[in-house]
Amino acid sequence: MRIYREKDYEAMSRRAAAVIAGEIIHNPACVLGLATGSTPEGAYRYLVDWYKQGFINFRHVLSVNLDEYVGLSPDHDQSYRYFMQSNLFDHVDIVPENTRVPDGLTADTDAECARYDAYILSLGYASLQLLGIGRNGHIGFNEPGDCFVKQTHVVDLTESTIDANARFFPTWDDVPKQAISMGMGAIMGAKKILLCASGEEKADAIYNSVCGPITPGCPGSILQLHPNVVLVADEAALSKLIAAGVKV
Ligand code: GLP
Repeated sequence: MRIYREKDYEAMSRRAAAVIAGEIIHNPACVLGLATGSTPEGAYRYLVDWYKQGFINFRHVLSVNLDEYVGLSPDHDQSYRYFMQSNLFDHVDIVPENTRVPDGLTADTDAECARYDAYILSLGYASLQLLGIGRNGHIGFNEPGDCFVKQTHVVDLTESTIDANARFFPTWDDVPKQAISMGMGAIMGAKKILLCASGEEKADAIYNSVCGPITPGCPGSILQLHPNVVLVADEAALSKLIAAGVKV
């Protein structure tokens, strides 16, 4: 695992964007596995800026997103489709049909999950999978549990995740309690993984993912088994690793 230690959120965002831009420049028809949340927002801002300056384009890029809330429509301002449109897709030249986010309104979640996995498989998996991480170590919406789930699946969100997401909704009751998430098969199938983290509240999740036992109790720990992971994090998110004497 290559670790980039950055001083703050802004520097982390710029470095993460540089890794993604590098992938696009190297392979203009790459498949980007994309993530939502506050962590990648800054990286998307840099990518839009670099697109506008003509350094990169998304003309041939395909994207598959990690997850979507069950029950939210694409135009709900807290849906992950809406997030992707407003933070990236609406501002660059990506072909709309080449962007995929699980359908949170599907009447048949099992069929939607199978369809999503089949599509990712048909692309040969992501060239680069971007990941944030939850405070409890979740990646995508693969929450801590008894096993790693391979396929795209419906997840019952944990209370800690619902609490963390509650800041975006009027009341706790409005926060979706389920999501469709890519499973570990699609995530680990990516040729390269870019894990990003910022802030002290992620320090335990990062420490456990990088140094802890490989266990579904900390979903991010599965990344230790991937041969090509780049971790881009700020000093606060790396603080537990630094305190433990890990060279970063
Ligand atoms: C959600 C998303 C994850 C994201 C996590 C952390 O649960 N499904 O993909 O990594 O939130 O979000 P944030 O970056 O806002 O801390």
